[in-house]
Amino acid sequence: MAFETIIVDVEDHVALVKLNRPDALNALNAQLIGELCTALEEADANDKVRCIVLTGSEKAFAAGADIKEMSEKSFVEVYTEDLFGTIGDRISAVRKPIIAAVGGYALGGGCELAMMCDFIIASDTAKFGQPEINLGVIAGIGGTQRLTRFVGKSKSMDMNLTGRFMNAEEAERSGLVSRVVPAKKLIEEATAAAQKIAEKSQLSAMAAKEAVNRSYELTLNEGLLFERRVFHSMFATEDQKEGMAAFLEKREAQFRDK
Ligand code: CAA
Repeated sequence: MAFETIIVDVEDHVALVKLNRPDALNALNAQLIGELCTALEEADANDKVRCIVLTGSEKAFAAGADIKEMSEKSFVEVYTEDLFGTIGDRISAVRKPIIAAVGGYALGGGCELAMMCDFIIASDTAKFGQPEINLGVIAGIGGTQRLTRFVGKSKSMDMNLTGRFMNAEEAERSGLVSRVVPAKKLIEEATAAAQKIAEKSQLSAMAAKEAVNRSYELTLNEGLLFERRVFHSMFATEDQKEGMAAFLEKREAQFRDK
């Protein structure tokens, strides 16, 4: 499908999905959200794709939900259309790993979008924030929920109540991002990480993603049982036989997703 607000490029088993509304710092309007979800679903269904990198521009990953588009809406309208009610579910339903490569501003819905991905690699210029309080509202796509799970109550309250931005160093220290890289190397490093994932068995990658995500929903004992049963089930795959044989024979494994 042809998109106007995003650019998709598939190379070496990695889909690079780039938000492309430069005039609005990639603010998330209805068109961009629809196109982004469709692009991610298409990448998920594309046999050539084994991992996805989601990025924005050097200045902004995304500066939040589109304020111009929503400013005049009434409660009845946002409630009836369930504004932002499906983006989280559609992105969470993508089974292939998604890495957010964040440069510049990731604010409001932009920070929330990055947090919907499986992990975040940030450039040293990245700035994260939930500044919705400055607009007389609160976060609406996970900024009070996912951020709290990432960075804990105190820092999440600080971000959501003061609206201040967190730089990349603080974001890494707080557990929001997995690594910080120089801005010029952001796409290179994120793509390299995606290619590393693409080399693994797709079955293991999907199962690992599913099991980690379950940890947010289950008690520790239920989560440990889920993990163990999935681990057991992997012994039904050829890739388990190949992976372990390759280790014992001191050679590279050749995974076939079977
Ligand atoms: N929505 C719509 N347009 C936006 C936007 C947004 N979230 N963020 C930036 N833009 C637009 C600006 O209006 C401006 O457009 P014009 O040139 O047509 O005026 C253009 O992008 C460039 O922005 P600035 O001139 O403001 O650039 P700057 O470098 O001076 O500042 C910034 C950058 C600090 C990111 C500033 O743009 C900003 O504060 N943006 C808003 C951030 C924000 O409040 N995000 C939360 C949105 S609400 C939300 O996301 C709700 C939710 O959780 C669901």
